[in-house]
Amino acid sequence: MADKIRVLLTEEEVNARINEIAHEISRDYEGKSLHLICILKGGVFFTCELAKRLTVPVSLDFMSVSSYGSGTVSSGVVKIIKDLDEPLEGKEVLIVEDIIDSGRTLAYLMEILKQRNPKSIQLCTLLDKPERRVKKQVQVTYTCFTIPDEFVVGYGLDYDQKYRNLPYIGVVEQ
Ligand code: IMP
Ligand code: MG
Repeated sequence: MADKIRVLLTEEEVNARINEIAHEISRDYEGKSLHLICILKGGVFFTCELAKRLTVPVSLDFMSVSSYGSGTVSSGVVKIIKDLDEPLEGKEVLIVEDIIDSGRTLAYLMEILKQRNPKSIQLCTLLDKPERRVKKQVQVTYTCFTIPDEFVVGYGLDYDQKYRNLPYIGVVEQ
């Protein structure tokens, strides 16, 4: 049976907010080049939309980590499935994530990526669920939306690999 999905953020709201964040990032990095790291798979839609709107020179790389199994509860285990293709040495790095929940994934990633000597490393996320944070040290520089503690799908986010392609963000009603 098809799940019922309640719209939390419309496509128009998401796109308008990405425009604002892209403007802010372009201003902050003016005169510099930006190396975007897309965290697969969830970050891919947001990364593309963001990258298209940036006015500074951009390069892209991709990384895949596992944080969850097939359910909706964090396993607490983070594993690199696909590492970056390029070194980070001397680069202005911006990590682009779909959502920060417990913060376990990003706390771990930031630690290992900082060891690769980027010139700077910041974090940009489409969604943040601060109520769920376990790793309080995770610093997010750019957040599109802060949302309540609900399991969301769309715009890259999945429920058992479904709904990533929804152009809006919704809550799966049980
Ligand atoms: P964290 O390590 O708990 O911060 O988990 C981050 C990852 O969990 C995200 O990159 C998502 O893949 C997944 N996740 C967390 N909350 C949600 C949600 O509400 N919907 C879909 N995926 C989620
Ligand atoms: Mg993810």
